[in-house]
Amino acid sequence: MKWNERRARAREDIAAVMARDPAATSKLEVRLCYPGLSALKAHRVAHTLYQKGHIVAARWLSQRARHRTGIEIHPGATIGRRVFIDHGDGVVIGETTVIGDDVTIYQGVTLGGTGKDVGKRHPTVGNGVTIGAGAKVLGPITVGDHSKIGAGAIVLRDVPPNCTVVGNPGRIVKKKTPGPEVDLDQVNLPDPMLDRMESLYTRLSHLERCLARHAEKLGCYAEGEPAAVGAPGAGRCPGDCSTCPDALPIEKEEPLC
Ligand SMILES: CC(C)(COP(=O)(O)OP(=O)(O)OC[C@H]1O[C@@H](n2cnc3c(N)ncnc32)[C@H](O)[C@@H]1OP(=O)(O)O)[C@@H](O)C(=O)NCCC(=O)NCCS
Repeated sequence: MKWNERRARAREDIAAVMARDPAATSKLEVRLCYPGLSALKAHRVAHTLYQKGHIVAARWLSQRARHRTGIEIHPGATIGRRVFIDHGDGVVIGETTVIGDDVTIYQGVTLGGTGKDVGKRHPTVGNGVTIGAGAKVLGPITVGDHSKIGAGAIVLRDVPPNCTVVGNPGRIVKKKTPGPEVDLDQVNLPDPMLDRMESLYTRLSHLERCLARHAEKLGCYAEGEPAAVGAPGAGRCPGDCSTCPDALPIEKEEPLC
């Protein structure tokens, strides 16, 4: 890799940290205080040496980086662009690991072998994957694009794209429809309880309106009572909700339980 290209990659890495870590306040801070950046920078040089057959020099460089950063990346590992290793301490990335672009790795992650395989014995991690703190992904398995491995998970089997895997042994707890972007929105989170409350409120209002109209038709309410007066469309109840102009498509709503 040429010098200019290396600098461009380093700039990309800094931008990735700024985008993905809410704690990062400036480029200077990122440059000085993020060991993951330093480890990746050293890895690029070590990987080039490794590819050229200078194995000992490559290993020596990688071990020096490990002493400085706590992150051990074997020089044989192939690592994509904009990879972010947060905190970093205790991260181990094995020789035949392949990591895609836009991957986020937290401290204590092992991308290692099971000890049973030869040749390609480490995982292949797709683009946009997040691997939580302390997770172990072992063996020549594949983690599909945009999947998330929960903190502390132990993953021994292939993970399809767009899945969330947690626990030991790792199990899929979620599969979402594909989305090309890294999920960074930590403000506009979906609120299923609020959605359900709003849906219930809509149905309740509708039932109140129906009840008020039926009550008025049957003469249960004296004229001027709030339920009859306040009900929209009062006085023109067709007596059959299927032909009512105010009726909501209740049958299309999700079941409540
Ligand atoms: C897995 C993770 C990425 C969340 O992914 P998600 O797709 O948004 O999944 P959810 O949060 O909806 O969780 C789905 C289910 O898995 C469970 N779960 C989430 N993370 C888990 C974990 N690490 N271990 C065990 N179960 C976990 C949730 O409780 C939930 O269970 P439920 O459906 O019974 O309620 C996240 O919980 C995680 O572990 N991130 C790692 C972050 C990290 O390492 N930070 C370190 C910063 S220093």
